[in-house]
Amino acid sequence: MEKREERLLREILSFYKGQQGELIPILLQVQANFGYLSEKARKLIARFLSITEGQVYSIASFYSQFRLVPLGKKRVTICRGTACHIRGAPRILEATEKVLGLKEGETSSDLEYTLETVACFGCCALAPCIRINKNVHGEMTPEKVKELFPHLK
Ligand code: FES
Repeated sequence: MEKREERLLREILSFYKGQQGELIPILLQVQANFGYLSEKARKLIARFLSITEGQVYSIASFYSQFRLVPLGKKRVTICRGTACHIRGAPRILEATEKVLGLKEGETSSDLEYTLETVACFGCCALAPCIRINKNVHGEMTPEKVKELFPHLK
């Protein structure tokens, strides 16, 4: 963790009293600022709340909204909403997992890609959909998935 990040983290903590009940709000705020909960951040939070790093880790790993690894540069999100599901989202997810070599929720070791799913993008007319960062690609097929990542073929 760089000095600048540590300063920001300490600034976030300064808004709290150091009570154990503040753990989840702190984790949410730290993740909102850093994108994930690094080991260093978890250590500082544990010290601030006078609890063990293990306690912080167990809460952070229990709730699915918390990330313990950084997001990849490209966030690949597959829609699992009803419209997309009916039109083949499970096959799209499977094809994407294969192309990226990742399972849902994972980030590649080079931090290039993170694979996620979501309930609905609000582009149901284009189902099934996949989003790469902010760009939505509709009417996907497993073949089109491969075309989205030509360098990984
Ligand atoms: S269900 Fe997939 S975009 Fe709405």
